[in-house]
Amino acid sequence: MNEQLDNLGIVVVGASGDLATKKIFPALFALYCQGWLPEKFRVFGFARSELNDAEFRRRITEHLTCRYVPGESCEQRMGEFLAKCRYVQGAYDSRDSFLDLYQVMRETEDGESANRLYYLAIPPSVFVDVARAIGDAGLVSCGPGEPWSRVVIEKPFGRDRESSDELTQALSQVFSESQTYRIDHYLGKEVIQNLLVLRFANIVFEPLWNNKFIESVHIVWKENIGLEGRGGYFDQYGIIRDVMQNHLLQILALVAMEPPARLDPVNIATEKAKVLRCVPPLSLDDVVLGQYGESERSGRRSPGYLDDSSVPSDSITPTYAATRLRIGCPRWEGVPFLISAGKGLDARMTKIIIRFRSVSGNMFCELGGCPTPNELSIRVQPDEAIYLSLTNKVPGMGMTLQPRDLDLQYKEAFAEVIPDAYESLLLDVIEGDRSLFIQKNELEAAWDVFTPVLHEIERRRVKPEPYEFGSEGPAAVGKLTP
Ligand code: BG6
Repeated sequence: MNEQLDNLGIVVVGASGDLATKKIFPALFALYCQGWLPEKFRVFGFARSELNDAEFRRRITEHLTCRYVPGESCEQRMGEFLAKCRYVQGAYDSRDSFLDLYQVMRETEDGESANRLYYLAIPPSVFVDVARAIGDAGLVSCGPGEPWSRVVIEKPFGRDRESSDELTQALSQVFSESQTYRIDHYLGKEVIQNLLVLRFANIVFEPLWNNKFIESVHIVWKENIGLEGRGGYFDQYGIIRDVMQNHLLQILALVAMEPPARLDPVNIATEKAKVLRCVPPLSLDDVVLGQYGESERSGRRSPGYLDDSSVPSDSITPTYAATRLRIGCPRWEGVPFLISAGKGLDARMTKIIIRFRSVSGNMFCELGGCPTPNELSIRVQPDEAIYLSLTNKVPGMGMTLQPRDLDLQYKEAFAEVIPDAYESLLLDVIEGDRSLFIQKNELEAAWDVFTPVLHEIERRRVKPEPYEFGSEGPAAVGKLTP
């Protein structure tokens, strides 16, 4: 594989869709502005829509931002970037369409050979068709010394363990595991990337990071919006498959895993898969499901899930789920891991809360109540932050105790711009670093946690509990808290 080649063709399949226009092209532009892209890069948009280069460039421009090049030079940088973008219209399953793409690449690129990055920004149902067509057109190289070819795909990877295995198997006919980059964009988020550093580059946490000192771990994911035009997709999958089986289980793995032998993709994935393998598959008793309904607050009506025209009126797809997981390994035996995720809630927020145990025989309990146990909160978004609540003496006469936070706000502590997750991850693909991508073994382990309960929910047609849009979620979640 040729890491040195400065000729790179980035092919975005599904170039006219939301993911491409809102996330991928802006991330590529951000990388370009910071000088991270190789000297001779080109971007090729490929999709079914009839567009010419000018229309395509206009669509891309709508979402490009000047974050890294504020001021007048931004327009010039946009012009340079757009000049490197071409569009090819074609069918996803057609070898001939990809040969047309190849023709355009040859006309556009300088030099004979180029590394190739294929970003499949398309629904998973067409991943295999596209991969086969790319392979049949002879556009995947893998020999030693040849330019590299890499494919990026984004969840959902199947609907359960079996369909995920089928997808992995079918894609592996064209792209090897080491050429496949499965994105979970939460792994690109700054605070999530910091988890291993926080745990293993500091001495203060690791000795306490076990069931002797930690009482519970809570991973909370909330959105205060509804479907945002994605009802067709969401209703097929529901919140467990959309957010929990991937983003939240990945966070859990990083919080709970043992230290990897080295900081490389294989060792990291091995430890993540190992800890996920210690989680017994969930059953219905471990899960609370909810679905948001309409609400009327301060004179403003918010429609319910079933009011969305792309959702069947009798849908029982959950928009909220909470579960209590156990990790059956010596470090975590007896510590509940609560995970909750919901759309249409009261806030947008992702947070990890590590609740420590009370000090045993605490002499301060005599003062009229025991001090509140310490809590470490890691806020992934919005406003990245880490804070540790500690009990302190309130200044003044007498002895009054109160919890106060040691507070690390990223915005105050760091002058650097926090990159969008897609920027970090795309750069990793270009540099061939797979540490933040999902490997086959962890994907299998993650599906094994959720597959039985997903099947049970579907077999029994379990109805989610209604909750009001903008509320904290269904009341039944109380049954999961210890
Ligand atoms: C996606 C889910 O993976 O993540 C969406 O499919 C969700 O339903 C989105 O809205 C949230 O991402 P972020 O980065 O805005 O937290």
